[in-house]
Amino acid sequence: MTRFRNILITGAAGGIGNVLRDALRPHCELMRCSDLVDVIPEAPHEQSFAFDLRDAAATAKAMQGVDIVYHFGGIPIEGAWQDIRDVNIDGTFNIYEAARIAGVSRVVFASSNHAMGFYRRSTTVGQDETPRPDSRYGVSKVFGEAVGRLYADKHGIETISLRIGQFRPRPTNRRMLSLWLSPADMARLAVSCLWQGPLHFEIVYGVSANKRGWYDNIGAQTIGYEPQDCAEDYAQDLGDEAMKEESVEASFQGGPFCAAEFDGSIDRIT
Ligand SMILES: NC(=O)c1ccc[n+]([C@@H]2O[C@H](COP(=O)([O-])OP(=O)(O)OC[C@H]3O[C@@H](n4cnc5c(N)ncnc54)[C@H](O)[C@@H]3O)[C@@H](O)[C@H]2O)c1
Repeated sequence: MTRFRNILITGAAGGIGNVLRDALRPHCELMRCSDLVDVIPEAPHEQSFAFDLRDAAATAKAMQGVDIVYHFGGIPIEGAWQDIRDVNIDGTFNIYEAARIAGVSRVVFASSNHAMGFYRRSTTVGQDETPRPDSRYGVSKVFGEAVGRLYADKHGIETISLRIGQFRPRPTNRRMLSLWLSPADMARLAVSCLWQGPLHFEIVYGVSANKRGWYDNIGAQTIGYEPQDCAEDYAQDLGDEAMKEESVEASFQGGPFCAAEFDGSIDRIT
């Protein structure tokens, strides 16, 4: 019998949310799908439950009876600080606090490669390196990982932080040859997060089996995530334009997120 009968998905109307719904539907007794707008249920055990992540009381209501949360709702790109703070920071805190009160066992948090974006592309990054966010968005993901660790240590809520690369149907530029996540691998990853063994706090890179990958993905082994797709299969299709990057982009893993608003010194970022 699975430990995780009742699932809550936030961001269920989003690009990844739709993949989560399809992947997790066969693995649960209740799938509560939440977003700002209602989603249309596609199975009798699927339920739509719209709420705004900024609303702590609504978040607490959505959490009732839930065993595992896939927290994928929020702003997925760079934005104004106030928006990032309200939705990604306050919203993620609301998720963990509601999970604690409701006795939820596990939270799967959609973190991002942008929590580590200012690492050089020549560096292999694992679970224990200091975060190096490349944007206000990246800071919100570092915060989400930190609040996850707090709630794991202090309250025993199991947490998997997925540092997702770039989720796309296929890679379309040079950077994606290193951090592409295919829809099929995202589905495999979602199911792997139902791993039945106990865990405390895991960081897993949400990437496909890319030959040019930048990550030491030990956490993937812990939960049995075995990606099958590889960006290299599409490398030949990328034209010269897709392979071009300016110097800040080309230096760091976060690419354009590092380059945006950049007025620092590349040489001092070791
Ligand atoms: N797509 C990627 O390549 C990628 C990479 C790294 C991390 N991620 C993370 O994965 C998650 C999902 O990404 P996505 O690409 O599916 O994004 P998406 O924009 O398609 O989905 C996010 C969903 O969150 C919902 N949302 C936004 N604000 C909300 C609020 N205040 N209350 C409730 N819901 C709200 C949106 O309506 C949307 O449906 C995000 O947290 C994103 O940061 C995505």
